[in-house]
This record gives sequence, C-alpha cells and structure tokens, in this order.
Amino acid sequence: MKNILVTGGAGFIGSHLVRLLVTTYPEYHIVNMDVLTYAGNLENLKDIEDKANYTFVKCDICDVKKVAKIFEEYTIDSVIHLAAESHVDRSIEDPFSFAQTNVMGTLTLLQSAKAYWNGNFSNKLFYHVSTDEVYGSLGEEGFFTEETAYDPHSPYSASKASSDHFVRAYADTYGLPIVISNCSNNYGSYQFPEKLIPLFINNIVNNKPLPIYGKGENVRDWLFVNDHVRAIDVIFHKGKIGDTYNIGGFNEWKNIDLIKVLIKTVDRLLGRKEGASDALITYVTDRAGHDVRYAIDSSKLKNELGWQPSLQFEEGIEKTVAWYLENQEWMENVTSGDYQNYYTNMYQT
Ligand code: NAD
Ligand code: TYD
Repeated sequence: MKNILVTGGAGFIGSHLVRLLVTTYPEYHIVNMDVLTYAGNLENLKDIEDKANYTFVKCDICDVKKVAKIFEEYTIDSVIHLAAESHVDRSIEDPFSFAQTNVMGTLTLLQSAKAYWNGNFSNKLFYHVSTDEVYGSLGEEGFFTEETAYDPHSPYSASKASSDHFVRAYADTYGLPIVISNCSNNYGSYQFPEKLIPLFINNIVNNKPLPIYGKGENVRDWLFVNDHVRAIDVIFHKGKIGDTYNIGGFNEWKNIDLIKVLIKTVDRLLGRKEGASDALITYVTDRAGHDVRYAIDSSKLKNELGWQPSLQFEEGIEKTVAWYLENQEWMENVTSGDYQNYYTNMYQT
C-alpha cells in the first residue's frame, strides 16, 4: 500500500503516469494534485476518473497551507513531482511564472514533505521529474550523461535546473530521500498543441503554415511518452535513493527531417496525395537562445534497472498521428478560447 501524490497529473506526461499507476497498482492510492492551468485538462483522465484508488485535488503547488493539508489528509508517503510550466517559448515571454511554479512550487513541496515526514524517512520518496534541457546544448558529437555539468540557457531550463538543485540540497541538508530523472523530448497523445509535434499535426490537418524556427537544423532526441512513464515506474520502484537517471530513446532527429515524416504520415492517413502538404513548410525567425542539439545517454537506466524504449520512432509517430486524427474533438476543445490569443501572439498570424 502506498499513498502517492502525483503533481501535474492533468498535464501531458502526468496524465499518462497517473493512468499507468492507477491501472497497474490497484493497491496504491494515487492523489493527483493539479491547479489546471491552460495545460492541465481533466479530459485527459476521463477513462480512469471513477477508479476507487484515484483522487483528484485542485491545488496550486505554491499554496503552502493547502499543500501541507493534502499531505496530512491523504497520509502521503511518496511524491512524484511533474507539475511545471513546461514550454520554452512561454518562458521567454514570461520568465517570472516559470520561477514561481518551477522553483517556488518545488520548494513548497520539498518543505511540505520534510515537515510532514518529520525525520521518519523510511519507505518515503520524493521523486522529481526533470528534463535534459538542464544540461544545455550539445555540438555535433557527444551525449548528456548523469555527470554532465548543468548549463541551462532558457528561462524554462534555468528554472528546472534550479528546482533540481533544491531537490538535491534537501537530500544533502535534511536527508530527504529523493530521486531525479532527466528525460529528453516526449511525444504522444494528450500533448498540448504548443509543442512541436501536436502543433504541426494540427496545422497540417488544417492546412496552416508550419513555422520552423531558423533553418530547422536543431536536433532533439524523441521518446514516446508511454516509455517515459514506464521509466518513471521503474525508477520509482527500483531506483537508488539519491541517484539521478537520464531517460532517452537514442532517437535523434533534425527538426526538418522530423517534420517531413509528420507531413508524410498525416497526408497518408488523411488519404491526401503524397507531397500535398509540403508547401506548408515555412521558415520563421529563430527562437532566442535556441539550443542546437539534445541527446541523452540513458545507458545507466538500461544497465542498472533494465529499462529500454518499447518501440521504434516510426511506429510511435504513426500511433501518435492516428490518435490526434481520431481525437479531433479533444484538439478542438484545447484550442478554443485562450489558445487563439496565444497562437496569434506567438506566430503573428
Ligand atoms: P504540461 O505542461 O503538459 O503539464 C503540466 C501540468 O502541471 C499541467 O497539468 C498544469 O495544470 C500543472 N501545473 C502547472 N502549474 C501548476 C501549479 N502551480 N500547481 C499545480 N499544478 C500545476 O507538462 P508536461 O510536458 O507533461 O511535463 C511534465 C513534467 O515533465 C514537467 O516537470 C517537465 O519539466 C518535465 N519534462 C517534460 C518533457 C516533455 O517533453 N514534455 C521532457 C522532460 C521532462
Ligand atoms: P518544443 O516542442 O517546443 O520542445 P523543446 O523546445 O523543449 O525542445 O520544440 C522542439 C523543437 O522544435 C525545438 O528545436 C524548437 C522547434 N520548434 C519549431 O521549429 N517551431 C515551432 O513552432 C515550435 C513550437 C518548435
């Protein structure tokens, strides 16, 4: 029996994690704490919302009093912390909200866990979910390992790096049992269409321009979201307290090559002629401070805990595109209202 507080469980990765935990471990109680920002959506969890071992609590991770009450009310013994502001472009526009949620929110959770567990750390765990972006940017060669020095460039990655440091500081200073994982770019169902893959799928479907930053030569290492949450499950149960694990798919793609695969897949699944949407490719001004290349070495996770990705990228992309095509109502719901203002502002259209 465990009482696990998952933060940010209504978001993209969080909803996949909550679903995995609720369905795999009926003996655990999963408490999903989320304030439901633009990125949080309870529709992502419709299929499991009535399960007996699942509870949703609307709460801001920065709300010191409310968070403390939740630890007590649900006798929380483990935290898996995902709640965050997560989009680099938004962090360039509004760095303060990233510092507030990602740094102060993480600190609030750390302090609440420390206070509630009150030195009794047996069978307790604070699992912090982080990103490979804290390591900065690679040239053409090399990989991020768990030993790579932090070198964040965007307000988003700076705020995540700072939160990682606070988590380690709580382990070193107060003995809090922690584990951290740093994962590469995720893709899959329920991802908010501000991130490259769902944004571009939606634009291809609607014959809208595909705004590629710079020359489209930046490289990202893509991992299917279901594989990320499988890795979190493995690390949560078998990871060494105090350790860090990198998670990645050994799956690097130049943006422009990835976009061509997306166009091909969407056109084929919609029954359009090959090449029908090629003209949507539009090069736009580069993102400020755009990291050139991310690539994760996840061999520690493979060698020590036996995790590896379950599928090849082409299969993952096919499943992902098919999901967005079958769930256009979900897409319409999340792109109504505020999204239109965001899009106009961001892409000046
Ligand atoms: P997301 O933006 O889809 O979801 C974030 C969730 O956090 C939303 O449900 C939102 O409502 C919630 N949230 C935001 N501020 C909150 C607050 N103050 N209090 C409570 N809840 C709040 O993000 P995601 O892509 O699912 O990422 C989840 C985590 O994984 C983040 O910590 C992110 O840094 C990390 N991560 C993401 C990726 C990726 O490719 N998406 C890769 C590596 C790591
Ligand atoms: P994104 O999904 O925002 O993830 P991250 O910046 O965290 O890696 O972007 C992935 C890559 O795609 C990144 O190199 C920026 C690029 N990109 C575009 O070229 N155009 C876009 O409209 C977006 C959102 C991203």
